[in-house]
Amino acid sequence: MLARVVTFAIDGVDPRPVWVEVDIRPGLPAFRIVGLADAAVREARERVRAAILNSRFEFPARRITANLAPAHLRKVGPGFDAALAVGLLAASGQCTGDALDRWAVFGELSLSGMLRPCRGVLAVAEGARRAGVRGLIVPSERAAEAALVEGVEVAAVADLRGVAAVLDGGDVPPPPPAPAPSAARVPGAEEPDLADVRGHELPLRALEIAAAGAHNLLLEGPPGSGKTMLARRLPGLLPPLTRAEAIEVTRIESVAGIGRGDGLAVRRPFRAPHHTISPAGLVGGGRPPAPGEATLAHHGVLFLDELSEFSRPALEALRQPIEDGEIAIVRGQQALRFPTRFALVAATNPCPCGFAGSERPCRCGEHELARHRRRLSGPLLDRIDLLVTVARPSAAALGRAPVTDSATVRQRVLAARERQQARLAATSAHTNAQLDARLLRAHVRPSGATRRALAQAYDRGDLSARGHDRVLRVARTIADLADRDAVQLDDVLHALALRTREAPGAELAA
Ligand SMILES: Nc1ncnc2c1ncn2[C@@H]1O[C@H](COP(=O)(O)OP(=O)(O)O)[C@@H](O)[C@H]1O
Ligand SMILES: [Mg+2]
Repeated sequence: MLARVVTFAIDGVDPRPVWVEVDIRPGLPAFRIVGLADAAVREARERVRAAILNSRFEFPARRITANLAPAHLRKVGPGFDAALAVGLLAASGQCTGDALDRWAVFGELSLSGMLRPCRGVLAVAEGARRAGVRGLIVPSERAAEAALVEGVEVAAVADLRGVAAVLDGGDVPPPPPAPAPSAARVPGAEEPDLADVRGHELPLRALEIAAAGAHNLLLEGPPGSGKTMLARRLPGLLPPLTRAEAIEVTRIESVAGIGRGDGLAVRRPFRAPHHTISPAGLVGGGRPPAPGEATLAHHGVLFLDELSEFSRPALEALRQPIEDGEIAIVRGQQALRFPTRFALVAATNPCPCGFAGSERPCRCGEHELARHRRRLSGPLLDRIDLLVTVARPSAAALGRAPVTDSATVRQRVLAARERQQARLAATSAHTNAQLDARLLRAHVRPSGATRRALAQAYDRGDLSARGHDRVLRVARTIADLADRDAVQLDDVLHALALRTREAPGAELAA
């Protein structure tokens, strides 16, 4: 007899429907799983056998073949256990399976037959809704997560017997009520405030512009000048996640196994990986491919402190995610896509000893300076929108009252974001940082004088073609912060000033 159960595979962070077909015929006892299953899925055989027996069902002593279709899709992880087991029960007549056409099943089995929580339940629930499946049977611990997706009934089930009961047409155990969004989901629930920062008018202005337009920012200055302090205050300036964004962030956390299953994410992610991170750790990869820091920072901030200490391959790997807002990881014939729309904030010393360009003498040799420059130069720097020098604050500045506080800046940022959203409502972009060439032309119409100023910067070699567009995006944000529809020459000059940089230690190297 043949039975068919719908479940889902996670492809990157996207759900793909998978049909588990179980066929049982007379012959020597055997249990085979076919259809491009990875090791964890093949191990499912042992778990399914034990779970069935320990749930007081019978394991048929016949020839059992399970096929995971479509065959070309790579199936990873233990989430297929439950579907395999109920397929087997239905094919052997131990479960009527009357409701099999209405339910999808997802979950790992323990040897005792309990349904264990596994990664990616939110993505699976979205897949069920998209596939038009009426309901989804998931482990109780993850039922609240599945229930975040509207339009799919969720059955919260503790064990294999429970799954079979629902498929026999029994009562549907409902998911627990949605928990209140918890602020403690992200480390640093109490955001540090800009009121702690003394002086630093210019870096604060750049931070505000970066927050308002989701632009990439590089802070450069000697040790102890407050770069890390500034960067860590960026999340407190950002608008809350929209519902759609919160679902995406929660889905990524769930697939990465760092979600706590306690409702929707409320804060924008702030990821600060250590500089020893590998390229795969930064942008995703490994076996099976897992999302990297760039994806965990989706809709939030990726902070690279001590930028020049990151390995060259890691920094190179960031180019595609910064440019495209996603990264494709090719595995066999398949390309997995991970979203990576983050604002990049980086901090670096101007030179290895940290004092080039400051009042203290720089002790770096030419070789060290050259190496430092190479590390930071070129492709990555070209993708930075705002480049600001953070000088050591003067003693007088440290004694004065702070320039501003986070609540004041956030208000201006929110107003500027609203202007962007209104303007971009009919497009796929949400922020000025996401304006492509066409949108940029439509929403920034530089005057003759503005174009001449840009042309001059371009001819001087201060700007690449990519840099040219980045200046216009930042100018758009500066105008939005000033509540103006038209982008003026001043905005563009301001944007240009915020990205021109003297080569670190150039005066010494010359
Ligand atoms: N502008 C400033 N206002 C107030 N405190 C500051 C300022 N700059 C630095 N500090 C103090 O110095 C410490 C070190 O700053 P940090 O941000 O770690 O420097 P950097 O990352 O540039 O090396 C901060 O935690 C803070 O106490
Ligand atoms: Mg620091």
